[in-house]
Amino acid sequence: MQIKVYCDHHLQSKAAADQIAELLLWNSSALLCFATGDTPKLTYELLVERLMNEKIDISKCFFIGLDEWVAVSKDDTGSCHWFLHHYLFEPLNIPASQIHLFDANAEDLQAECRKMNDLIRYKNGIDLMLVGVGMNGHIGFNEPGTKEDGLAHVIDLDATTLSVSKKYFNGEMQASKGITLGLGQFLSAREVIMMASGSKKAPIMKMALEGETGTQVPASLVRNHRNASVVLDKEAAEGLQLISQNLFQ
Ligand code: GLP
Repeated sequence: MQIKVYCDHHLQSKAAADQIAELLLWNSSALLCFATGDTPKLTYELLVERLMNEKIDISKCFFIGLDEWVAVSKDDTGSCHWFLHHYLFEPLNIPASQIHLFDANAEDLQAECRKMNDLIRYKNGIDLMLVGVGMNGHIGFNEPGTKEDGLAHVIDLDATTLSVSKKYFNGEMQASKGITLGLGQFLSAREVIMMASGSKKAPIMKMALEGETGTQVPASLVRNHRNASVVLDKEAAEGLQLISQNLFQ
């Protein structure tokens, strides 16, 4: 694992966008998995800009979603579905044939999980996964205590997640469950970018990067990943020992 700390959110986002673009330059048929949330918004805007400006070919790439709020409509601006279409798929004109997201309104959510697991297997694994970190250390909707080798599953959202979720939704949020890729899929992705920004993420990043490694803080498992970059702005890195080791970019 590599930890990279940037002076501000713009530089942090540019670094993440460049890392994705560089993968796409040599692997034009990559299987990509992108998180939603406030953290990667600017990364996606910068990625779209670079891919368009340099006409990087992504016509053979395939995009999958990391997670979704169960029973929330796809058109709700708080849904992961809406977010990914708005920030990535529409600006990049990605056709539906290159996208597979969880249908969190499906009657059979277990079948949705199986479909996602089968697709990832069929495509020979995830090439690049970009994740954020929840206030409780979750990755996707892998809440504290989720098993380390899990695949896609439905999960009860914990109190922290439910309370933080209000920032994404205009009205009342109905979901009490999430559907998510599992930590096993996170750990076996060929490349991982984990992002956190802002001082509100500093305590959880300190636990994740310098506390005990384990599923109580799912983000700490990034330390077991063989090819992960943790991309932080300096506020999220506040209090880390590494700050004194001069890791600023
Ligand atoms: C949400 C999502 C995650 C996201 C995380 C951080 O609940 N399920 O995929 O990465 O929490 O969100 P934010 O970037 O808004 O802090």
